[in-house]
Amino acid sequence: MIYSALSHLECPRCGARHDADLVQGTCSCGSPLLARYDLPAVAGLTSPPDIAARPADLWRYHELLPVRGAGHVVSLGEGMTPLLAMPRLGKALGVPNLLMKDEGLMPTGTFKARGAAVGVSRAAELGVAAIAMPTNGNAGAAWSVYAARAQMRSLVVMPAAAPAIARTQCAAAGAELYLVDGLIGDAGRLIADAVARRGGYLNVATLREPYRIEGKKTMGLEIAEQLGWRMPGVIVYPTGGGVGIIGIYKALRELLELGWVSGDLPRLVAVQSTGCAPIVRAFQAGAAASEPWPDAKTVAFGITVPNALGDFLILDALYATGGTAVAVTDEALLADQRTVARLEGSFICPEGAACVTAVRQLRESGWLSERDEVVVLNTGTGLIYPDTVPASVPVLQPSGSIPSGQP
Ligand SMILES: Cc1ncc(COP(=O)(O)O)c(C=O)c1O
Ligand SMILES: [Zn+2]
Repeated sequence: MIYSALSHLECPRCGARHDADLVQGTCSCGSPLLARYDLPAVAGLTSPPDIAARPADLWRYHELLPVRGAGHVVSLGEGMTPLLAMPRLGKALGVPNLLMKDEGLMPTGTFKARGAAVGVSRAAELGVAAIAMPTNGNAGAAWSVYAARAQMRSLVVMPAAAPAIARTQCAAAGAELYLVDGLIGDAGRLIADAVARRGGYLNVATLREPYRIEGKKTMGLEIAEQLGWRMPGVIVYPTGGGVGIIGIYKALRELLELGWVSGDLPRLVAVQSTGCAPIVRAFQAGAAASEPWPDAKTVAFGITVPNALGDFLILDALYATGGTAVAVTDEALLADQRTVARLEGSFICPEGAACVTAVRQLRESGWLSERDEVVVLNTGTGLIYPDTVPASVPVLQPSGSIPSGQP
């Protein structure tokens, strides 16, 4: 039985073709590589009804994933997160058909587990024994635990300001962990240098290997399946390195080519912080690539990426789908984090909250109408950012009493 229809790796910049059964990094031209599949073969191997009968995890799409042998899958039960209706929030924002794909339920608490599950599985299958990566925290946590599950060594560098819980997850999983007094780009330089000196490590930094994007692609596959093999009008995504938005775009184009969905692609929206908005600035200028953002800073730590390797792929997805790019302030996204918890009972991460604020702004500007069906991505649980919501709580003495009536 053919488990994966992976055929080769392709460079989206220079068109070069690379062997997918060798360990590969970026193209010799410097661009990330994209995995390509024999889609006519996929159509012969499986179908939407067949997939519907499979277990509720992201491996249900295995023909469209790069792991060749089922025995090489390294899994913690990731995927098939809920696509929740948000009726009260939608009404408040003037977008009644609002849905939220809730990645807070993933192992390690964020969607990063998708890229890690697929990336680590494929690396292990190709004989890699150790991985190394710079991270803003959440990806490091995810790759460390999947590496542990694959009995692979991991070397991780993250900014000292990254969320503390990510550090704890890496340490618990036995990663060799360092903090850098700087940003993710500084961590990237330290990792590249260590990988060159040590040997034996695969650099799995964002888009420096081709398979993380394949894991993140499954968000797009799931959204389509959960809507009954249909695409929504708009997808709103918190964009740092952009792997998720590039992956969703890739997934939907593969489904179109398979004929499993039809019609227009959703308008894709990249959401960034006003404290780090290189993609928004490039989009507004109509540019094909972005410029590094100086002094990047936002509470939505996962999207603090001043200089994304895949910037041209993100921008291409926005232009090609008639999408847009929006920057939101920390103040507004923190307010919306609480609004979502109060109206819908979901404690989302600041990056997810940034998407809610973006919907608010896009509705106010008229870019969204009340007829649009909008899917926002909540990329992680609020539980990993315990300090974003101030909780000032009265302390009672054992002999005290609760005030009568409600405050
Ligand atoms: C919670 C969260 N959301 C969004 C992102 C941005 O991810 P991407 O690389 O897909 O743009 C990150 C990246 O660290 C993250 O941790
Ligand atoms: Zn190339």
